[in-house]
Amino acid sequence: MDQQALAAQVAKLRSTLDQYSYEYYVQDNPSVPDAEYDSLYQQLVTLERAHPELVTPDSPTQRVGAAPLSEFVSVAHEMPMLSLDNAFSDEDMQDFERRISDRLKSQETIEFACEPKLDGIAVSLLYEEGLLVRGATRGDGQNGEDITLNVRTIKSIPLKLRGEGYPRRLEVRGEIYMPKQGFEALNEQARSSGGKVFVNPRNAAAGSLRVLDSNITASRPLELCTYSVGVVAEGALPNTHTAVLEALSGWGFRINKHMAKARGVGECLVYYRRMAELRDDLPYDIDGIVFKVNRLDLQQQLGFVSRAPRWAIAFKFPAQEQMTELLDVEFQVGRTGAVTPVARLEPVFVGGVTVSNATLHNRDEIERLGVMVGDTVIVRRAGDVIPQVVSVVAGKRPDHAVPIHFPDTCPVCGSPVETAPGEAVARCSGGLICPAQRKESLKHFASRKAMDIEGLGDKLVEVLVDQGLIKGAEDIYLLQAEQVAALERMGQKSAENLIASIEKSKATTLAKFIFALGIREVGEATARNLVSALGTLEAIGAADEEALQQIPDIGPVVAHFIYEWFSQAEHQQLIAALRAAGLHWQEQPVTDQTALPLNGTTYVVTGSLEAMGRDDAKAHLLSLGAKVAGSVSKKTDCVVAGPGAGSKLTKAQELGIKIIDEEAFLSLLASHGIVLG
Ligand code: IVH
Repeated sequence: MDQQALAAQVAKLRSTLDQYSYEYYVQDNPSVPDAEYDSLYQQLVTLERAHPELVTPDSPTQRVGAAPLSEFVSVAHEMPMLSLDNAFSDEDMQDFERRISDRLKSQETIEFACEPKLDGIAVSLLYEEGLLVRGATRGDGQNGEDITLNVRTIKSIPLKLRGEGYPRRLEVRGEIYMPKQGFEALNEQARSSGGKVFVNPRNAAAGSLRVLDSNITASRPLELCTYSVGVVAEGALPNTHTAVLEALSGWGFRINKHMAKARGVGECLVYYRRMAELRDDLPYDIDGIVFKVNRLDLQQQLGFVSRAPRWAIAFKFPAQEQMTELLDVEFQVGRTGAVTPVARLEPVFVGGVTVSNATLHNRDEIERLGVMVGDTVIVRRAGDVIPQVVSVVAGKRPDHAVPIHFPDTCPVCGSPVETAPGEAVARCSGGLICPAQRKESLKHFASRKAMDIEGLGDKLVEVLVDQGLIKGAEDIYLLQAEQVAALERMGQKSAENLIASIEKSKATTLAKFIFALGIREVGEATARNLVSALGTLEAIGAADEEALQQIPDIGPVVAHFIYEWFSQAEHQQLIAALRAAGLHWQEQPVTDQTALPLNGTTYVVTGSLEAMGRDDAKAHLLSLGAKVAGSVSKKTDCVVAGPGAGSKLTKAQELGIKIIDEEAFLSLLASHGIVLG
């Protein structure tokens, strides 16, 4: 191939890869499988290795880390990077609007741009002729540090702007943050490997970005969301803040999809409350909402006071971290025997609720934190993650502080506590002799996604075990209404209802039954896979580790747990007793997944359905061989949308994906022999 054709091929590969990367990292909407991207990327690497003269700085291959720096170079910001004033109440917001109207000497309703305030690290990214030439931290607002090598590794930061019409020099500003899921995974890994555990996603983002070795940044799940511009030269931008951000989005930047306009403070407050409700479900941490006067000419007129603009304010949400006192540590024993230290705290309002317990994870974590009873600690509660003790406030330790001793024997049954080699979790070795493990197993057994025994909740299981009425799952089916009615706070009627739902639960499915058994690492999906592959309980119980490993998603560890579980005589007895009690399910022929009618298709279920819950709808689709995804992308084949469907439906419409209502869904099921009675 001649040099020109080669250069054209390399350029084509780059632009295809850029497009895929943009869809994946900026739009969250991949159009090709990862393997396709990887294969094209490898082709580009190979070509560039053979022809180094064709490598350009904006090539996707140039996102990998570079040799570590010995120190950061200081960068003077041409335009200072300001901070924001805070509001903490509706009144503060009303004052903010009044100050603006007074200054502008106008009674006209002001239009505000509303954006979540992301909790990360502010950065400045300078583009010259569309190419990223420098990345810098905010520093003190006047001078920051050059982190160009680090920002280049972050995939949602364009190395080259897309489209056209951008100014010749353009400084884009935004927040680099670590999504919650990436943060949890990073810490989980650090906890098990003895690496650095971060206090919160913000610290993790800072610790991943302000490092001299860009290889570290490259290995961390960081993202950029842009929220303003700095220097703009030789080119013009639109005249409202929201339109500027739309322009940035067109040039390849991620902007916040919850950005909205509000007329007057009244609408701002409505937006604030709506986002406060959404906060826990967002994939990243936000600590408030930023409101900005949308018209740039008005921003100009309003100007700045000391280091903050008069035209913007951050209305904060309740803090997700608070200080409190560690009163005691108790050790809880879970279903699989895991012994978890739980901190009992002086109750504190954090992340929107009052918290009086928090996890300390395991023995290593207690050591890492160096925490003692009596210490003042920082507790974090973010979203639906269980509250955690994240650090000890140095210098506040009282004289009476007491060291924490991790028990050698189970606090509930006295059996030795053991830690398997290479594991961080210590476990009670008592098995089902241990009342705590028994209680937790029984709670799991009765739960909705397992045997679904209505009325047999956690509290009642505790009482039944404590009263000696049940020991194992088989005893549930021997309970008599009179025994239950005699319990405190239980009437004859509720006792009868319980017995009726126990009876009803006997008709189940094999997958639910396997899940209910509580085998380590066997969740609902694994249980379903076992059933599809092996068909009967006998076949599952008889499978050896090698056979088990042939099943999707089952590796050597899980195969071992399953094999071990079925090898134990007491478990065989349990199964026999449950079947004798009348538990039954329809035997299913072993299914060849590829022969199922919806094999190879992906469905999304959204909104509410009348004839069944969403879980049932999913179960039916799975039984027909479809995959069921949680979000809509180009890979989705069909969306089942009931009343109340929101953003997923809109996205499906935008992407032109097939959408069916409940009626069409029911006839689809019926056409495959699933008729709901
Ligand atoms: S605008 C002149 N918008 O909050 C206004 N800032 O306390 C400059 N931040 O340093 C900032 N999300 O790191 C703006 N949507 C958003 C933001 C945001 C987070 C951070 C930013 C800034 C700090 C100010």
